[in-house]
Amino acid sequence: MFSPLIAAGRLNVSAAIRTHRRGYSGWTGAVNTDYDPLDPAVAAQPHAAYDALHRSGRVHYNPRRATWILHRLDDVRAALRDTDRVTSSHGVTRVRMVADLVVVTDGEQHSRLRKQVQPAFTKGALDSWRNIIDKLAAGLVDDMIAAGNCDAVQRLTMPMPLRVIAAILGVPESDIADFRRWSDDSTQLINFTPTVSGVVSTARSMRAAVALRRYFLKHLADGHLKGSDTVLGRLLQHSTDGALTDNQLFYIAILLLIAGNETTTNLLGGMLHTYAEEPDQYDMIRDKPDLIPQAIEEHVRYTSPIQNLYRYTRADYRVGDVTIPSGSRVLMSFGAANRDPLAFDDPNTFRADRNPRSHVGFGYGPHLCLGAPLARMEAQAVLRELVDRVTRIEMTGPTTWSTNSSLRGPIHLPVVLHAKSAT
Ligand code: HEM
Repeated sequence: MFSPLIAAGRLNVSAAIRTHRRGYSGWTGAVNTDYDPLDPAVAAQPHAAYDALHRSGRVHYNPRRATWILHRLDDVRAALRDTDRVTSSHGVTRVRMVADLVVVTDGEQHSRLRKQVQPAFTKGALDSWRNIIDKLAAGLVDDMIAAGNCDAVQRLTMPMPLRVIAAILGVPESDIADFRRWSDDSTQLINFTPTVSGVVSTARSMRAAVALRRYFLKHLADGHLKGSDTVLGRLLQHSTDGALTDNQLFYIAILLLIAGNETTTNLLGGMLHTYAEEPDQYDMIRDKPDLIPQAIEEHVRYTSPIQNLYRYTRADYRVGDVTIPSGSRVLMSFGAANRDPLAFDDPNTFRADRNPRSHVGFGYGPHLCLGAPLARMEAQAVLRELVDRVTRIEMTGPTTWSTNSSLRGPIHLPVVLHAKSAT
């Protein structure tokens, strides 16, 4: 995975890059690395690689992937803030893209698009969803306790955000199964790979996106969503940008599905896995439930549901002694930055009472996650329910982690929840 020199932590910034294939062939001043976030084994278990990056220098460069890597918390935060030079407007994945979407724009275009979505996440909106979220958390934890030994991903961590988003988008219970299938398939569009199976799966995703679009347009046409307390209803009422077209509303719905589902599933899965492995930490929360909001923040840092996103430089960009040339692809390692030993004491240890305020689990700067308050509310509701009802979370088999280089979380999590005995 790493070149032996780097793995041993001995290569320093004075090492010149002798580039292979597509990368720069000259001196860059960065530490040359073969750390590869796309390697499935690294994606599933990236933390040893992060430790090695932190040991071996400030800025790294992978010539095979033609990618610069930022992994220190301060450097990642500074780059995320500097959208003039380090932009999202060429996309935030390895494949460059241009689209009129909030995540992949900067400057005025980004402000305009962000303002369109923002009314969906006001405090009033969140308060109006609290009951729905609490009820869903209670129901799903009930269900898991009743099931005994089961896969928490199927029973809790996937259904929770999906049902929340369905509820706040105004999708009725009777349509949840179809909605789940379409949204699962269509959100795979983000994982496009230029292989035969990648193209086949993209075709399926496109069909699902078309079905989802037809569904929303039908519901928008019948007038029920407009004027309702749902996300789309709110967006229509608060539109600052003239009337939003049905198509724009559909794109916002898809954006929320992509941005909010798998990320929250990863957070919830990471949380259960951590408490099963660290029962002392779970007991601490049971003793002091006031710590719940702080503990969720530590879960976001520790799990980092989004591990990696990219940016592209549109001017030379200096980090310490290294100049990243204009036009470069730069990996923002949120996962590594959240385990930066310069920023967090003993970063590979989960501490429910740490309060890691500076983490970048929800990003930072102009693109700071719009759904963070919703994700926090969901995770806090689930943890409150667990702490009220469950004395111990026991793992009954190994956790399987996703191998996606951006989104990391458990995809199988066999556990049993031991309920408090009724008194
Ligand atoms: C634990 C759950 C979540 C995590 C870890 C997470 C993480 C992130 C991160 C890191 C970004 C910044 C992307 C960048 O800088 O390029 C982001 C942006 C965003 N997130 Fe989340 N997110 C979560 C949940 C949600 C939810 C529930 C929603 C909405 C339903 C949401 C909506 C958005 C949107 C719309 C943006 C784009 C903001 C912009 O570009 O201005 N997220 N999220």
